Amino acid sequence: MSAISPPAERVWWKAPLDKLELTWIAIAFVWSLVMFGMMVYWHIYGNQNLANETYKTTKEMFAAKTQAMVDKYTVRTETDQQIPVVKPPAGSDVYLIGRLWAWWPILELEKGKQYKLHLSAMDYMHGFSLQPQNINIQVHPNYEHVLKISPNQSGTYSIVCNEYCGIGHHTMVGRIYVK
Ligand code: CUA
Repeated sequence: MSAISPPAERVWWKAPLDKLELTWIAIAFVWSLVMFGMMVYWHIYGNQNLANETYKTTKEMFAAKTQAMVDKYTVRTETDQQIPVVKPPAGSDVYLIGRLWAWWPILELEKGKQYKLHLSAMDYMHGFSLQPQNINIQVHPNYEHVLKISPNQSGTYSIVCNEYCGIGHHTMVGRIYVK
């Protein structure tokens, strides 16, 4: 009997288990347990996995919270579109809106401090991809995604939308400063 010719004995599952087959089943079983354990281990010690929470919201509620933060903590504007650069206090809740076709506003965060980043979309699903970090999350309208972040390197980070959202998708970018 081989894998490509049919078994001579029709009731093949009643044949005794070969030692070699049993060994492979045992190896595969142990390895699957190792892989399962690694999911938990890497989440805790891998230092890169997001533990995000998602809540129901409305576009209006989320826009209002973002606008309140922008009104309170804008320090300057950038580009000819006068995009507000917002510097909220360390440890606070910061809000970022994804919409056709920009991430709004620009955030300025302090290195080594923790923030709660809230993300939501105003129209369609967008993708929050933080460059050059390996952080990637789908952002849906009427849902508020919350992630705890502690930026540990200063620099300018780009946000790229990586869910196709229409004709201007390739121009949908944003920025986070860490100082
Ligand atoms: Cu937003 Cu693609």
